[in-house]
Amino acid sequence: MRKSLLLTGAVLLLAGCGTGGKASSHADQANGQKVFQAKCAGCHTLAAAGSTGTVGPNLDDAFRADKQQGFKQNTIQNVVLLQIRQPSAPMPPSLVKGADAQDVAAYVAAVAGTGSSNAKPPSQLGTDGKTIFKAECSSCHTLKAAAATGTIGPNLDQLKPAQATVQHQVEVGGGPMPAFKGKLSDAQISAVAKFVSSSAGK
Ligand code: HEC
Ligand code: HEC
Repeated sequence: MRKSLLLTGAVLLLAGCGTGGKASSHADQANGQKVFQAKCAGCHTLAAAGSTGTVGPNLDDAFRADKQQGFKQNTIQNVVLLQIRQPSAPMPPSLVKGADAQDVAAYVAAVAGTGSSNAKPPSQLGTDGKTIFKAECSSCHTLKAAAATGTIGPNLDQLKPAQATVQHQVEVGGGPMPAFKGKLSDAQISAVAKFVSSSAGK
């Protein structure tokens, strides 16, 4: 119920005031997926993108009911666009703009509530630091050794943090970064900290 109310409210808002134009019908969803993975995946779960972020709402859950109730894809696209243009904290403002915003909105509207997640739960990731980094950190951080290009958190190749710094940050989180203690085992946290400190900047 809550979601339908939210949708109706957002659609009225869109109809009522200048929010910078409506959803494009010529969006490039392949680009939308790339933008999603770089800018949104760290905070949102979306099965089709393989993302498991938990800072913001699960976008499959958020839009599944709306789809089942027959909301048009274009309507959902407008809701996503509105959220990008006028986000409520802690979702950052001005994250994506212009065509990228159109593309990512179209992509989310198309895939939300569809795909089945192929992301592994943390307990099945093992203790290889690189594997853990790719699954849990790459959507927010850039680190060449893991082919990661996220931009929500600092670029770790530039930061070159010490192992103890990474370990502490992963345990307690900070800002929009979630705490991983309890989600990752102590051995997994040590492994990822070692991987980051030994590979950053190389
Ligand atoms: C730093 C974390 C963060 C990032 C990055 C982020 N979001 Fe969010 N997002 C949130 C949070 C937290 C909320 C819930 C805000 C609230 O409580 O109103 C949210 C809400 C949303 C909603 C509304 C869902 C609902 O249940 O109504 C949509 C849609 C959304 N985000 C899409 C995106 C897209 C698309 C991107 C990338 C362009 C993105 N978000 C990037 C944290 C984030
Ligand atoms: C949702 C996005 C997100 C995810 C996921 C994420 N981080 Fe972060 N990370 C950030 C942000 C944002 C900051 C900056 C925090 C601040 O300014 O307080 C940060 C900061 C850091 C720092 C810098 C700490 C310092 O003292 O300067 C390290 C190291 C780090 N993260 C490692 C990781 C590792 C390793 C993982 C995976 C286990 C991870 N992060 C997952 C967003 C994220």
